[in-house]
Formats: sequence, structure tokens, C-alpha cells
Amino acid sequence: MKFFVDTAEIDDIKDLAATGMVDGVTTNPSLIMKSGRDIIEVTKEICSIVDGPVSAEVAATEADAMIAEGRKLAEIADNIAVKVPLNWDGLKACKTLSGEGKMVNVTLCFSANQALLAAKAGATFISPFIGRLDDINLDGMDLIAEIRQIYDNYHFQTEILAASIRTVNHVKDCALVGADVGTMPPDVIRKLADHVLTAKGLDAFMKDWAKTGQNILS
Ligand code: G3P
Repeated sequence: MKFFVDTAEIDDIKDLAATGMVDGVTTNPSLIMKSGRDIIEVTKEICSIVDGPVSAEVAATEADAMIAEGRKLAEIADNIAVKVPLNWDGLKACKTLSGEGKMVNVTLCFSANQALLAAKAGATFISPFIGRLDDINLDGMDLIAEIRQIYDNYHFQTEILAASIRTVNHVKDCALVGADVGTMPPDVIRKLADHVLTAKGLDAFMKDWAKTGQNILS
């Protein structure tokens, strides 16, 4: 499963990219707002740090304007994935932009039928929002599993990019049901390596090692 980091914070992206675990980045208008940066400038900087796909979202609400914005965003770097919302305007924009060879990420997906439409429109990525479904007492993971089955039934190449991930258990469950990508807030990625028994075991090993008086390098 590929890991994308869901942020526009440069320090977090640099820190996590250094682990070798970051395969891409996703941003959205809320994350750009939180960063306080200009969308073009910050997206360009992100693309210089990460080689994989960097999603940059259009802000227009009508297909032709989305297409114009998408073309401008795609000029920032070769690894831009233009992000469009899952409505009819976004689907039309997806069809046009993907037809031009651009990567397109169709976002705000909350149903299997929406995901089917995005695949038919040539989306590179579909972004189902797990956490926001859980928030309203639905099961976000069921949606990922449904989309996996539908895409496999018809051999769609669109990658399932699980979004709105809030917990490490979301990550594990996405991997179990076969999401292609998970986009995660920086702290969720950091927590993936944590285990209380790892910390406890390492502490015990280090205490015993100190008693040997040895040094592996000398
Ligand atoms: O990638 C979409 C993601 O940023 C949404 O997450 O936590 O705002 O639902 P959240």
C-alpha cells in the first residue's frame, strides 16, 4: 500500500519524506488555508520534495473553470494530480483533464456509485472519505471494500486512495481490504511504528547491553 501524507506543512513533509515511506502528498483547500501559504508557491515546494503524486485541488465550481484551474495547477510540476470534487462538473473536468494525460484525483467520494462514475471518467485516483462516514455512524471501511470489489470486477485502473484517515486502525483496515493508497495526517504516519512492547523490549535490551561493556564498532 502506498502512503501519501495529507498536509501542506513543509516541515512535516520533509520530516516524513526522510523516512523513505512517503509515496505522495495530498492537499485540499482547508489544508492550504491552514498552511497560510499561497497555493502555487507551497505546491511547487512540495513537488520539489516528493517525487510521487502531489494532489492540488481546484477551487472552481463549474466544469470549464475547473478545467482551466486544473491546467494551471498541472503546470506547476510533472507530478501534480489535479483534484476535483465528485459531482457532475468535477466528473466532466476529470474526463477532459485525464484525456489530456494529466493525473486526476476525484475527491469527496462517499458512495460506491460515485466511485464507479469516477473510474468511468478516467480518474487516476478516487478518494473515499473514511472518517467522515464514521462520523455519521456509517462504516467508511465498508465503502473501501465495495469499491475494491467493483474496480476488480471491471478491471478499472483507478487507484483507491483512502482519505479522511484518522487512526492507525484505519490504516491497517485499509490494507486488509486492499486500498491502493492511504493518505494520512502526519501524526497517524508517525504512530504506525509505535508499540508499547517494542519500547519496553528495547529498553530492557539496552540496559543488558550496557552491562556487557561491549562496543560493536571497536
Ligand atoms: O484527504 C481528505 C482529508 O483531508 C479529509 O480528512 O479528517 O478532514 O475528514 P478529514
